[in-house]
Amino acid sequence: MQISVIGIGYVGMVTGACLADLGHSIFFVGRDQKKLNKIKTGKSPIFEPQLDNLLERNKNRIKTTADLSDAVKKTELTFICVGTPSQSDGSVDLQQVKEVTRTIGNSLGSDNKYHIIIVKSTVLPGTTEKLVIPILEKESKKKSFLDFGIASNPEFLKEGSAVYDFFHTDRIVIGVNDQKTREILVQLYQPLSAPIYSTTIRTSEMIKYTSNAFLATKISFANEIGNLCKKMGIDSYDVFEGVGLDTRINTHFFRSGIGFGGSCLPKDIKALIAHGRALGIDPQILNAVIATNDEQPMKMIDLIKQHMDINGRNIGILGLAFKPDTDDIRESRAIPIIKALLKEKANVIAFDPVAMKNFQSLFPGIRYANKAQDVLNASAAVLIVTEWKEFENLDFRGKTVIDGRRNLKAQMTASIYEGVCW
Ligand code: UDX
Repeated sequence: MQISVIGIGYVGMVTGACLADLGHSIFFVGRDQKKLNKIKTGKSPIFEPQLDNLLERNKNRIKTTADLSDAVKKTELTFICVGTPSQSDGSVDLQQVKEVTRTIGNSLGSDNKYHIIIVKSTVLPGTTEKLVIPILEKESKKKSFLDFGIASNPEFLKEGSAVYDFFHTDRIVIGVNDQKTREILVQLYQPLSAPIYSTTIRTSEMIKYTSNAFLATKISFANEIGNLCKKMGIDSYDVFEGVGLDTRINTHFFRSGIGFGGSCLPKDIKALIAHGRALGIDPQILNAVIATNDEQPMKMIDLIKQHMDINGRNIGILGLAFKPDTDDIRESRAIPIIKALLKEKANVIAFDPVAMKNFQSLFPGIRYANKAQDVLNASAAVLIVTEWKEFENLDFRGKTVIDGRRNLKAQMTASIYEGVCW
């Protein structure tokens, strides 16, 4: 199939590259010409394992353009993968969705084939029906589900393993109203041999929010239990290993520590809370999930202060990305931790294998080390904030380590070691 992918962030890049690998022709549509040029040479504008390989080996099936109208006219499917960032009150900013929808609608007006628009951007239930469809119909002067198809198809990929997740997904969710669109999407995803759950558009949108809300709840729950365990001298990882053997519960997403960051979980939970409030429901569990997550990184500061006065001391930070295998620092736990350290007048020395460049624009004033061991050598104490694999080979002997992500080598070899929830 000929497919347009609008948006060249994580979702767009991974979706487009993986669909190209399944044999489809992809038009990546973006605004940043530099990034588009990079894609053309087989290189990804974002850091994500395996993505460069896919772009390189499918180069002949991949085109890039800044002209959305033209891409829509030349293709049969259009995936909307633009960002839906949070506004200050937690609600979703739909500016980019509106903008691209207007252009798509406009070019649908002069398109004679049955074009399908698929909303992959995370949008609150009702957005596709109340916002996207009316704009498309107004601009194209055509009727949805009759003259063109529309679907919701949320994305469940995890950064750092996004390509793997695409090809090994647990399920594909499609929200559709018409048989023709359903058949084409089922055909598109058939090669992945994952269960396809087909439902209404707004249910599909809600599945995405509910999945992320549940994952975030699991993490905050693990952290709350972990805080209790720490006080009682119990290792919460052992507890969750035992708890997770119950198949109703399972072991995943029970890694206690300093909480969740990233571009999705914090944003989506806050959006759901804001939406709930607008509907007259203040979601108590979700409020607590966020409150626990905000407090969790501060446990590292409390723990380090139990061992030393940090005023004027060199404090090392290992890991700046919100999780390993990504350069993404959005909502990284390193941000509140470093802010708190600076407030206490500590001198911060940080290292991350790939996220330092992004972090430098946020914190230009702190020191950045060339390698992880340099952080250890230069610091009175070290805080492990991201669980990069390479940190498991460091020499922690003689060091004071506060661990937010459970580094077993540090636990076994550091002179003074404190885990946040163990
Ligand atoms: C998440 C969802 O997992 C994914 O399905 C959705 O499409 C997008 O949001 P992502 O944010 O990329 O994916 O990464 P994820 O692996 O979920 O981690 C999110 C944060 O939670 C990270 O900061 C991670 O360190 C933290 N986390 C995760 C924990 O603290 N404990 C865990 O057990 C799991």
